[in-house]
Amino acid sequence: MSASGAGVEIRTEDELRLMRRAGLAVARALAAMAAAVDVGVTTADLDVIARQTLAQEGAESNFLGYAPGWGTTPYPATVCVSVNQAVVHGIPDRTALAAGDLVSIDFGAVKDGFHGDAAVTVAVGAASQAAVRLSAATREALWAGLAAMRPGARVGDISHAIERSIRHAGRYGIVRDLTGHGIGTAMHQEPDVPNVGRPHRGLELVEGLCLAIEPMATLGGVRTAELDDGWTIVTADGSWAAHWEHTVALTRHGLWVLTAEDGGQAELARRGLPFGPLAD
Ligand code: MF3
Ligand code: CO
Repeated sequence: MSASGAGVEIRTEDELRLMRRAGLAVARALAAMAAAVDVGVTTADLDVIARQTLAQEGAESNFLGYAPGWGTTPYPATVCVSVNQAVVHGIPDRTALAAGDLVSIDFGAVKDGFHGDAAVTVAVGAASQAAVRLSAATREALWAGLAAMRPGARVGDISHAIERSIRHAGRYGIVRDLTGHGIGTAMHQEPDVPNVGRPHRGLELVEGLCLAIEPMATLGGVRTAELDDGWTIVTADGSWAAHWEHTVALTRHGLWVLTAEDGGQAELARRGLPFGPLAD
């Protein structure tokens, strides 16, 4: 486990295979939760599904009890469910989802000491066209960020690609208060991966690097606020938000989207990007 910068972990191929196992557990849980989203389902119901999937997958929660700093409130659930004007870190509760809601589900797991982290945004029934387009633009920005990953590129190239993609899609706010991150033996590692930035800046990408890339965009402004629960991040202006995330590895063959059930094969092929899974 060498590092090319303070706190940056570089994985061996055997470690990347273990990262994939954690990522698959995350992918399966997110798929189960996304499929369960419906009118009347509570955000706490999604947490139950998350716990069941963790047990089935032999994985553990890296969200439950997570405390980012001294004196901060430990996160009380296994999944973050952020509805409408909530951007991220919404705590599951008895709130029933309603038709037209825009729901971001962010989930992580740790297995054999390695972490996975991913998020999807889904609409409950038929959402407004604006909400659907916001989510699609945010998802596209995630893949644009991924497309900038190659050995020799820099973190700023990913940030710049995400920013360009969202700006190209429409007049959206790009949240800056939170970023993507390195991921490996901990959920949050160096480097930060901002969703805006300048090309050719920052850490150089190398084979074996794993990043969680996670654009967050809004229908309004970029400012956010934290609710009194100590966790939920909402838009300051009440505009709705979307959040998409994957944990991605750079391998000797290309990109391996560890938290996609197909490893990213279909989306990478569509974009002409090298698919780089490692055989077991
Ligand atoms: N998945 C979030 C991220 O992408 C972190 C969730 S915070 C937690 O950084 F407390 F819920 F773990
Ligand atoms: Co993350």
